[in-house]
Amino acid sequence: MSACSVVIFGVTGDLSERKLIPAVYNLGIDKLLPTKFNLYGFARRNWSREDFQKVIENSVKNNSRRAVEDTSILNHLLSGADYFEGDFDSKETYLKLKQRLDEVDQAEGSKAVRIFYLSTSPEYFDVIAGQLKEVGLLEEQDKSRTRVIVEKPFGHNLKSAKELNSVLLKSMDESQIYRIDHYLGKETVQNLLVFRFSNGIFEPIWNRKYISHVEISVCESIGVGSRAGYFDKAGILRDVVQNHALQLLTLVAMEPPVDFSADSVRDEKVKVLRSIKRLAIDDVASKIVRARYLSGKIENQPAIGYLGEKGVADNSETETFVAMELSVDNWRWSGVPFFVRAGKRLKRRMTEISVHYRSTPQLFFRKENIDEFENNVLSFQIQPEEGIKVKVNAKPPGQKMKVMPVNLDFTYKEAYGVETPEAYERLILDCIKGDPTLFTRNDEIEQAWDLLEPIFAAWNSKGPMKPPIFGYDAGTWGPPASDEIILKHDKSSWSN
Ligand code: BG6
Repeated sequence: MSACSVVIFGVTGDLSERKLIPAVYNLGIDKLLPTKFNLYGFARRNWSREDFQKVIENSVKNNSRRAVEDTSILNHLLSGADYFEGDFDSKETYLKLKQRLDEVDQAEGSKAVRIFYLSTSPEYFDVIAGQLKEVGLLEEQDKSRTRVIVEKPFGHNLKSAKELNSVLLKSMDESQIYRIDHYLGKETVQNLLVFRFSNGIFEPIWNRKYISHVEISVCESIGVGSRAGYFDKAGILRDVVQNHALQLLTLVAMEPPVDFSADSVRDEKVKVLRSIKRLAIDDVASKIVRARYLSGKIENQPAIGYLGEKGVADNSETETFVAMELSVDNWRWSGVPFFVRAGKRLKRRMTEISVHYRSTPQLFFRKENIDEFENNVLSFQIQPEEGIKVKVNAKPPGQKMKVMPVNLDFTYKEAYGVETPEAYERLILDCIKGDPTLFTRNDEIEQAWDLLEPIFAAWNSKGPMKPPIFGYDAGTWGPPASDEIILKHDKSSWSN
């Protein structure tokens, strides 16, 4: 593999310490990094190279999924690390960075892959991209070897996402932009494609004839914590649904791509987003429930309400929970509702996709006084335990005719005996290799924002059409209105 330098802008932030640095370290353990690998930090804080090295060491010791048993990988990472202190518009610092990257190339006698990871607040994306271009860091080098990873949020509505995109395109080509959605790096999420397209028994029944509805839940038990400043301006619809939940939906609903190349997969995903029926503003109140958490208890510990969180505005109308019904209005899915919910401070952490099958005719069982039994459900469990489960009906042993559900399931841990890698490991590695399949393309981002526009319009409206914002006790599964949304469909309920 060619030499590689990764420069993290905003390296003093929490994401680097919790996720990015440990991800790089774990790639090192798995021998997946190029032999010549340099990690650079760029931020405003007054740190020396030694300070940055200390941060790397602590981050690996405290946050890596695997303990430091052999220090050689860590030492290798530390020896190639350096820190660039400067404002994001300080040309001088970018020139120093360029000089360093050029020196690496000269010493190696070849051009290294250069990755600029924008892990700053989005307001700096513009200036960083401009400065990188100005000092020649995006142009001089062979473009296919220079990549820019852009962290979410990618805009806060359709208009701002379009603006951000055109700003980035002034400095680089679309092929150089890697828009990250860490959900696409999760093992079960990738496995959705393998599962769907490599098992002959499921694909024929993956459509409106057999499927009654699909549920996508991204439930968290944590609150907003120290991120209230950001979250109060975003809300869960922007923070989790626009990206993670809709990405999951595209993978469940997409048609088989012609191959697994980045554009073929993304072409199919974007078609799904285009097929989702746009809501009329007047329908928002009946199809979308928004709510925020009140005080309550999570695992027996008291939790304060959202409005009491530090950094939340007194007159905040931000939602921490949303539940919605979406229609993928295409040949395969017409008439099959997709129920999506996401929320903070819920009963427990659970990210899951469940595909609910229609019932069989129950004639035979009725004669046996068995009126009703549960339908088959295929669930992809993404968190906390990664696995796949199929709920089927069976007869429990005994003389009486009975029908009882039973699970056929597997977890990654049990089946493969290994811990699954963290999402950022996969995504950073793919970027080093130049494979953008698991990164979102601009048209996907714009379609996802476009879909949410009527919801924002209704929520921001004034007068009687404005949908209410409900409250729910922390430690529950959200407000009763969320249950009502799914109950309307054949008396279904969320799979908690
Ligand atoms: C992030 C959101 O993108 O995803 C957070 O900004 C959320 O608010 C997080 O907590 C959830 O990710 P995961 O991997 O913990 O499910």
